[in-house]
Amino acid sequence: MKIFRKKTIAQIQAQVAKGESEAEHTGLAKHLGVRDLTAFGIAAIIGAGIFSTIGNASASGGPAVIFLFIFTALACGFSAFAYAEFASLVPVSGSAYTYSYVAFGEIMAWLIGWSLIMEYAIGNIAVAISWSDYFTGLLSLIKIPALGINGIHLPAWSTMDYLTASKGFTEANSLISNGAILQSLTPNMQDAYNAYALSPTIGSLHIICDVPALLIIFIITALVYRGIKESKNVGNAMVIIKLAVVLLIIAVGVFYVDTTNWSPFAPNGVSGVLKGISAVFFAYIGFDAISTTAEECKNPQRDLPRGMMYAIIICTILYVLIALVLTGMVKYNELAVGDPLAFVFEKLNLRWMSGIIAVSAVVAMASVLLVFQLGQPRIWMSMSRDGLLPKAFSRIHPKYKTPSFATIVTGFVVAVPALFMNLTAVTDLCSIGTLFAFVLVCGGVLVLQKSHAHVERKFKIPYFNSQYVFPVLLLISFGLALKFNSISCTDFLHSRKLKDAESIVTTLNVEQKASLLIHANDFGTITSEIATNNNPLLLYMLSLNNRDYENFVLSANLDMPVIYNSGIGVFKHNIPLWIFFIASIMLAYLCYKHKLSLIPVLGLISCLFMMSEMGISNWIGFGIWLVVGLVIYASYGYRKSKLSV
Ligand code: ALA
Repeated sequence: MKIFRKKTIAQIQAQVAKGESEAEHTGLAKHLGVRDLTAFGIAAIIGAGIFSTIGNASASGGPAVIFLFIFTALACGFSAFAYAEFASLVPVSGSAYTYSYVAFGEIMAWLIGWSLIMEYAIGNIAVAISWSDYFTGLLSLIKIPALGINGIHLPAWSTMDYLTASKGFTEANSLISNGAILQSLTPNMQDAYNAYALSPTIGSLHIICDVPALLIIFIITALVYRGIKESKNVGNAMVIIKLAVVLLIIAVGVFYVDTTNWSPFAPNGVSGVLKGISAVFFAYIGFDAISTTAEECKNPQRDLPRGMMYAIIICTILYVLIALVLTGMVKYNELAVGDPLAFVFEKLNLRWMSGIIAVSAVVAMASVLLVFQLGQPRIWMSMSRDGLLPKAFSRIHPKYKTPSFATIVTGFVVAVPALFMNLTAVTDLCSIGTLFAFVLVCGGVLVLQKSHAHVERKFKIPYFNSQYVFPVLLLISFGLALKFNSISCTDFLHSRKLKDAESIVTTLNVEQKASLLIHANDFGTITSEIATNNNPLLLYMLSLNNRDYENFVLSANLDMPVIYNSGIGVFKHNIPLWIFFIASIMLAYLCYKHKLSLIPVLGLISCLFMMSEMGISNWIGFGIWLVVGLVIYASYGYRKSKLSV
C-alpha cells in the first residue's frame, strides 16, 4: 500500500553524508555541543510544569507525588533511549517524525508529525498562558514610590481567556446572589468576575483575551527567526538563572519543612497520586526537543543521547526535591493553586522569596517557549522536504540560516490561540499528543531493531532480553495494583464508580441519614464545627480524604445503587484502561515470542499506561485531531509526497 511507503536509512544517511539534506537547501549552521544540548534540554523541561501544574498534582497525591515524578522520569528515560538510538541512526532534523518514516512508513510518520504539533505548538500555548499569569503577577509587585507606581495592573480582561472569565463570572454571580460579597471570593474568582464584567463589548460579545501571552510569543518568534546561535546564547543564560533559583528554593525551603506535613505520605492513595499524571508528565516534556536540532549539532550521534539523559537526570533530582520541600512546608491540600512555589513562601511571610520566584518563573517559561518555538518549524521543515507540506515550509533564510517561513507560521499558530484558549485543556492535549509520539518512537525502535538489525548505529540501546522479564514484571505490576489500589481495580472490572458525597447524601431518606451519621461517629471524630452544621453528614463526608471516604462509604452497609454509578456512562471512561490492558498482554506475548529489547518495551508500556490515565474526553479530542490530520494527508501529502514519483 502506498500510504505505508518508507524512506530508507541509506537514503537519509547518504543525504547527511553529502552535507545537505535536499538539493535546494544549503544546510543549517552547526553550533551545538553536549553542554548546549543538556542546557537546551533543561531549558525545555523546567517551566510551567514545576512552577504551576505541580500544585494540583501535589494537592491530589500528597507527598507521594514524588513517586509519580520518579515513575515519569523512568518512562521518559526509557523513551529517551529510543530517541537516542533513532537519532544516531537517522541524524537529521524532524525528530520522531523522521524516525517513524523509516520504521512504519509515510502515514504513521505524518500522524506523528501531526501529533508533535500537539507537543510543541499546543504545549507552547499552555506555557505562554502560564507565563502571562506569572508576568501579570510580577507587574503588580512593581513598586516605585518616587514615581507614584504602586504595582502595575493591566485590566483583567486583557490577561485571561474568555472561558475562564465567563465561567468565573457565572460562579461568582451565583455565590453573590446567595449572599456572598465579591471581596470575600478567591482572588482568581474576583479576577474572572472583573474580567467579564468590565470587558469592552461589541454588541453582546465580550472582548476578553490574553495579550501578554501574545506578546511573549511575538518576541520569542523574532529571536528564533534571527538565528540558532543567538537563541543558544540566550537559552544558556536563561538556564543558569533558572537552575540557580530552583536551587535557592530548595535550599531556603528545606529550613521551613515540617515533617509532620509528610504524614500521611499518600493521603489519597494510589488513585490520588495518579490524578497528577498529565501535570507531572507535562513537567518533563521537552527533553526530546533536543533531537529536532540534530542537524545543528557538531556530533549528534555522541551528544544527543548524552544531552537527553543528563537533562532528565538533573531535572528529576530537582523535581523530587522541590516536591518534598513543597509538601513539607505546607499541608498538601493547600497546594491547589496556580503558583504553588510563590504561594508557599508568601504563606510563610517570605515575600522576598516570592518576588524572586515570580521573576525566575517568567525567565524559566520563556526558555521553554524558546526551545519549543525552535522545534516546531524544524519538524515542519522536514515534512516539507519530504513533500508532505508545501515547499515554503523548508525555505531557509539566506542570512540567518533558519527555516524562516515555518518559524513565522509557528508564531501565528501559537500566538493566536494563546489569546483565547484555556490552560487545563491545552496542557492535557499536549500531554496526550506527546505520549502518543513516545509510544510510536519506542515501538519504532523495536521494529527497526528487527528489520535493520545489521545497519551500523553509533548508539545502541543496551540489550536486555524481555522474553520472561517483561511478562513477569507485568504480573507483578498487576499484583501490586490489586494490593495497593484494590478498590479502583475492582470498580474497573465491574465498570462502576463510587458516587461523590453530595450524590449519595441527596438520595438518602431521614432515617438512613441518621444511621449513617451514627456510623460516622463510630468511624471517625465529628468535630463541633461539623456537628453544629445544618448538614453534618455531608460536611463530614466532604472532610474525608479519598481513601477514608472510600472506606467509610463501603463499610456503611448501603445498597449498591445508592453508592455506585454504573452502565455505559462509567464504562466509556474505562475504555482507555482496557486498551492499555489488552495492549500490555499482546506486548507480553510479542516479548516472549521475539525476545524484544527490554528498555524500549518498558518505555512503550509506561507511556501507554500514562495515556490510559488521561481521561476519555482527552482521547476524543486527540482522536478528532488525528482525523483532521488524516484528511489533510489524503488531500495533500499523499499526492505530493516525494516518494510518490
Ligand atoms: N516541560 C515544560 C514545562 O513544564 C513543557 O513548561
